[in-house]
Amino acid sequence: MKSLIVFYSLEGNTRFIAQTIAEEIKGDILELKPVNDIKQKGFMRYLWGGKQAMSKKIPELKPFDKNPNDYDLIVIGTPVWAFTFAPALRAFYSKNKIQNKKIALFCCHGGGKAGTLNKMKEQLTGNNIVGEIDFMDPLIHNKEDNARKAKEWARKIVK
Ligand SMILES: Cc1cc2nc3c(=O)[nH]c(=O)nc-3n(C[C@H](O)[C@H](O)[C@H](O)COP(=O)(O)O)c2cc1C
Repeated sequence: MKSLIVFYSLEGNTRFIAQTIAEEIKGDILELKPVNDIKQKGFMRYLWGGKQAMSKKIPELKPFDKNPNDYDLIVIGTPVWAFTFAPALRAFYSKNKIQNKKIALFCCHGGGKAGTLNKMKEQLTGNNIVGEIDFMDPLIHNKEDNARKAKEWARKIVK
């Protein structure tokens, strides 16, 4: 089975989980990079990013060289921003019509996933959701445990 791990990460947590999964299932990686990403620091970062997420902003993404249609399983990861998925994912969904794929979803958050994964699923109707999982700031809280959790989950979704 050919697997692609698609993700966006501002501070590295989602990237860490995405890379761990990719290594475990020998998948390809597609990191989504907005042309203009957040430059603000501290509280202003939350305010600006939260506003972008809540207003369903669709940022322009840098070009990428992977075609999701070439894969059987697509693992999609996002940080939680203002109780939903990050704007870069909205840009990905708006540009790529994904259908009839196995999809596995994960998110990283600072306290709770809220409705994030359900909102992702709403963007992915017509696919088979084979797994979902969330991680609380995995780079800060028990990095090794979170890596183990990600690997175990990855093995399950490719079975
Ligand atoms: C703009 C912004 C909004 C956020 N909103 C939430 C939130 O609503 N709920 C939550 O639990 N964490 C929230 N967080 C924390 C991140 O989801 C969390 O730190 C995540 O692990 C970051 O992933 P990353 O390192 O891949 O960017 C927010 C972070 C940012 C930058």
